[in-house]
Amino acid sequence: MKTPCFLQIDHGDPAAWRAELIHALCAETASIAPKHFYDALGARLFSAITELPEYYPTRTEAAIFARHGEAIAAAAAGMGGASTWVDLGAGNCEKAARLFALFGVQRYVAVDISVDYLAHALEHLQRRHPAMDLIGIGMDFSRRLVLPAQSGDGPRLIFYAGSSIGNFDPAESLRLLLQMHQAAQGGALLIGVDLAKPADILESAYDDSLGVTAAFNRNLLLHVNRLLGSDFRLDDWRHVAFFNRTASRIEMHLEANRESTVRWTGGERRFAKGQRIHTENSYKWRVADFAELLAQAGFTGTRHWTDEREWFAVFLASARRATAREPNS
Ligand code: AVJ
Repeated sequence: MKTPCFLQIDHGDPAAWRAELIHALCAETASIAPKHFYDALGARLFSAITELPEYYPTRTEAAIFARHGEAIAAAAAGMGGASTWVDLGAGNCEKAARLFALFGVQRYVAVDISVDYLAHALEHLQRRHPAMDLIGIGMDFSRRLVLPAQSGDGPRLIFYAGSSIGNFDPAESLRLLLQMHQAAQGGALLIGVDLAKPADILESAYDDSLGVTAAFNRNLLLHVNRLLGSDFRLDDWRHVAFFNRTASRIEMHLEANRESTVRWTGGERRFAKGQRIHTENSYKWRVADFAELLAQAGFTGTRHWTDEREWFAVFLASARRATAREPNS
């Protein structure tokens, strides 16, 4: 049996994160980056969100793979069929693992912000797939996506599931897709994208009746308190989520119930009653617009599959490089 190999690239640097966090908290419109949602409790709360009746994306994407998996695998094979998979934001690695057999994956590179999250999942996977090459990379790919040589020198399939691309605005998404195109080394991209739909459906998916999304959002303050040594009080903050139609995105905020001053070593910020901290954007795309974005990033031969309500789409796009023409003989 092989053993997984692990690499921490950009140290998940606590000092850099601290500076970035303080900067964002002190900006005129305060914000906390959504990557901080996923501490141990946050990851569990997100996993609970995926089981809520109102939160359709996870199960809709799974249904698309269940129904069209073979067609998607055949189309990927037609694009060169990379046997190396790079899973961005891999987490527990389960989504990708369910597709290994169908796509003939031989080498699996799991990328997440901290390599610690991946250790357990990859060791578990290795027992089920003893002959597979498993690599865990700790890297904040939202800053810069450059994969180490251990990720294989041939074409790669970049797997970015769950509509996490929705956390980035269109310009940032294009920048990220350009980096994915580069990282694919002539392979392909397989990406899940949540689609625009009526606001009431979106708003209940991000403000569920059990209050799990509210807990997920407010837990951010507990995480930030640990990262900064700050003194956010949970009671002072409530969850707000709404669809911003102009920008075609769900916005999540934390809104102050009362005036409060938050302190940390070396600084503080006063928040007025009703003032908000912006914690997440989740962009909702139209199929044609996302296809256009893929084209702008250099992808070709784009295909997509959706559910019958057209709530979610899985896109497959080729990163094949233009082949130099053979000289005439
Ligand atoms: C993991 C970024 C895809 O935007 O739907 C779920 C995160 N936030 N509920 C999303 C999330 C609130 C989720 N992504």
